[in-house]
Amino acid sequence: MPDTITITDDRTGKSVTVPLTNGVFASSALRDLDPDLRMYDPAFLSTAACSSAITYLDGDAGILRYRGYPIEQLAEKSSYLEVAFLLLNGELPTSTQLDNWTDDVRHHTFIHENMRKRFVDGFHHDAHPMGMFVSAVAALGTFYDDAKDIFDPSSRDKQVLRLIAKMPTLAAMCHRFSVGLPFNYPSNQLSFPANFLNMMWKVGDYQVHPVLERAMEVLFILHADHEQNCGTTAMRVVGSSHADPYSACAAAAAALYGPLHGGANEAVVRMLEEIGSMDEVPAFIDSVKSGKGRLMGFGHRVYKHYDPRATIVKKTAYDVFEVTGKNPLLDVALKLEEVALHDDYFVSRKLYPNVDFYSGLIYQAMGFPVEMFTVLFAIPRTAGWLAHWVELLNDKEQKISRPRQNYIGADARDYVSLGLRG
Ligand code: CMC
Repeated sequence: MPDTITITDDRTGKSVTVPLTNGVFASSALRDLDPDLRMYDPAFLSTAACSSAITYLDGDAGILRYRGYPIEQLAEKSSYLEVAFLLLNGELPTSTQLDNWTDDVRHHTFIHENMRKRFVDGFHHDAHPMGMFVSAVAALGTFYDDAKDIFDPSSRDKQVLRLIAKMPTLAAMCHRFSVGLPFNYPSNQLSFPANFLNMMWKVGDYQVHPVLERAMEVLFILHADHEQNCGTTAMRVVGSSHADPYSACAAAAAALYGPLHGGANEAVVRMLEEIGSMDEVPAFIDSVKSGKGRLMGFGHRVYKHYDPRATIVKKTAYDVFEVTGKNPLLDVALKLEEVALHDDYFVSRKLYPNVDFYSGLIYQAMGFPVEMFTVLFAIPRTAGWLAHWVELLNDKEQKISRPRQNYIGADARDYVSLGLRG
């Protein structure tokens, strides 16, 4: 079978034959047929907007790999900082590289005092932590003159380090502010997840529980990247204008905030609370099938199979509940999953639990308010956003993102003065 595709313009009879690689062909070939031809692909269902060597995802087989390594192995054996290094550099670090990288991250966890005193303290007391977080990430860039030197490799590395290291600090600061508690400074002798948990919860002689520390680590690993999702696409689109990485990360975090994306974990818990008990599950499923809302935490643009991250999150939930006690919403979630996976509506549409279905139950059991759930997603996703940003800047085929449109508006017409309009 030839690895080519031939496209014929039936208006002119002209054809072009273009190579197919990995099932992808360059749509620029269409311009050879007619320079005014456009592909119409709302929401990019069939469009590869870049070549990427970071994350491999096979949605039909339920496979997810970072730089070739299966997510299951990374979740079992690795750490978030090791995974962040892998995503950014393409290879697992040697032990010296990992020590240096960990040390570097630890030395960048503090934020300028004015971020807290002048910026965050300006928010209203009940501001949503994710709204604060999005703005704080953008504001952070104003503290670094060199943030705009995106083609200087040493400056770029510095911003990557700062962003990865400071995200937990910003996140914990947003939470402590929203509940009126004093800010906890980073403790650099702790691991990345333990430092975050300590900044979140330390009052008196708080000690991070090792099971919860590992659960946080696993959740950070699972959320670190997911190829060209909505937030990462926002990162690439904003990055393509050569904006600084803080502004681009703020855009990516804003995209993540939506309930169809990273906001789904918050929406799942609100949904489970609304359902309330296992007895109400069939009626809720019927209401979803009749078009009243969606079963949050179910379905995925790419996975048409059980999301491999959801399998790991579900197992992690049981580990966490051993320590925290079972989240009472777990039974409702299990019942929902059982009913949905046996219902033709969900089966025929290949709707399975995604990463957000069980993650919120863990976060809630660990004491996080629902408003913090998307912030918890944004902390580790920063590694993925930055890996894609670096890849974009090094990609000679990339230019500023600028899609074309199919104009369907009014034809040319003359301006009508206000007094003459009916
Ligand atoms: N509940 C009920 N029906 C659904 C759901 C759902 N969660 N998801 C999709 N459908 C139906 C949809 O109504 C449509 O049915 P029909 O063909 O009869 O019109 C069909 O399935 C295809 O849906 P779609 O909206 O065309 O699919 P999409 O690829 O555009 O949407 C999605 C993907 C994730 C936005 C969607 O499945 C959804 O809204 N899920 C709930 C929100 C959620 O859990 N989001 C987290 C995604 S994973 C974390 C992340 O990476 O962001």
